[in-house]
Amino acid sequence: MITIRPCQPTDADYRQAVDIFNAVWVGQEETAQEWKEGDEKRPETLKWGRFFADLDGQPAGYASYEQQLRLNHPGKLRVSVIVRPAFRRRGVGIALWQHLCRQIEQFDPLRLFIGTRENFPEGMRFAEKRGFFESFRHWESRLELVSFRLADWAGHARRVAEQGIEIRSVVELASDTDRDRKLYELGWAIEQDIPSPEPAVKRSFEEFQKVWQRSNLVHDAWFVALDRGEYVGLTEFWLNRGGRSCSVRYWGNGCDSLAPQAGDRDGAQTARHRVRAAEGNPGTAHLERLGQQGDLGAEQAPGLCPQAGAYRLCKGGASGEAGG
Ligand SMILES: CC(C)(COP(=O)(O)OP(=O)(O)OC[C@H]1O[C@@H](n2cnc3c(N)ncnc32)[C@H](O)[C@@H]1OP(=O)(O)O)[C@@H](O)C(=O)NCCC(=O)NCCS
Repeated sequence: MITIRPCQPTDADYRQAVDIFNAVWVGQEETAQEWKEGDEKRPETLKWGRFFADLDGQPAGYASYEQQLRLNHPGKLRVSVIVRPAFRRRGVGIALWQHLCRQIEQFDPLRLFIGTRENFPEGMRFAEKRGFFESFRHWESRLELVSFRLADWAGHARRVAEQGIEIRSVVELASDTDRDRKLYELGWAIEQDIPSPEPAVKRSFEEFQKVWQRSNLVHDAWFVALDRGEYVGLTEFWLNRGGRSCSVRYWGNGCDSLAPQAGDRDGAQTARHRVRAAEGNPGTAHLERLGQQGDLGAEQAPGLCPQAGAYRLCKGGASGEAGG
């Protein structure tokens, strides 16, 4: 028998949700602590919900919906349905989907977004049958820090310096009284430059400031590229403790050379970098360049684990297809 219940903000429920996530998204493992912190730091105005499905009393899967800050629209929700491999093809996914549709109907959704992977054929089929179609892809590249030879990148860093570009951590920039405002504006300029199926919405400065409270963002590995004092590029490091890896985001001239340098810390073994890419855009070109650094141990992502993002137009009632 399938039973559905809401996730509670208890340690046990966070562990259960993350266990299910980690059993499916292998290679991207996360921790209950990270999820808890993410939920606690989410602005109160954003709608979200998460609930479990048990099959014969055993935790089998969960579904969730979330209004994302970067889109910040009550009718644009990211949803997910995820079932442990051992419990599949027994109706759990459809039961979760139906429950999800009933939960979000009250918001009269405009679009739903769902994420899956090209190498999850069941997920791709499940989404397509529920009316989703592919709208964009993320490509992920991975760098094995254990075998990485930093010395091979020395020439790259030198070339950046020769152009007059300085690299400073945000900690080193603390004396700049305008630092946070500059980081905020640079982040927004970059955000608009990243391919997206939906236009991003600028978050408030107060919301941006909460980044300083995030425990897995490493401040002395958060670098800024300065071109004669102007903030022109960023590298961020987010430790992903569950997977002993760090997620890397970088933009701008020369920042990529710092990825492994700062990543080789706190037990992280792999640096992960994800690009939201569309054919012919600069993100894709950048990935290709990274992929050419084969002797540095970087794996080029295409064909490795692309993640498809899909969206579905559903104005007029998300539950219309609840029967799936
Ligand atoms: C996609 C996913 C959630 C489906 O979960 P699931 O529990 O297997 O889903 P269901 O069992 O309800 O339905 C899956 C299929 O099994 C069929 N099925 C359901 N009960 C069945 C049974 N007793 N015997 C045989 N088939 C059955 C359903 O009709 C459905 O067929 P369809 O794909 O042709 O429509 C699961 O594969 C998953 O977690 N994938 C990875 C995560 C992911 O990509 N999620 C995003 C996509 S929404």
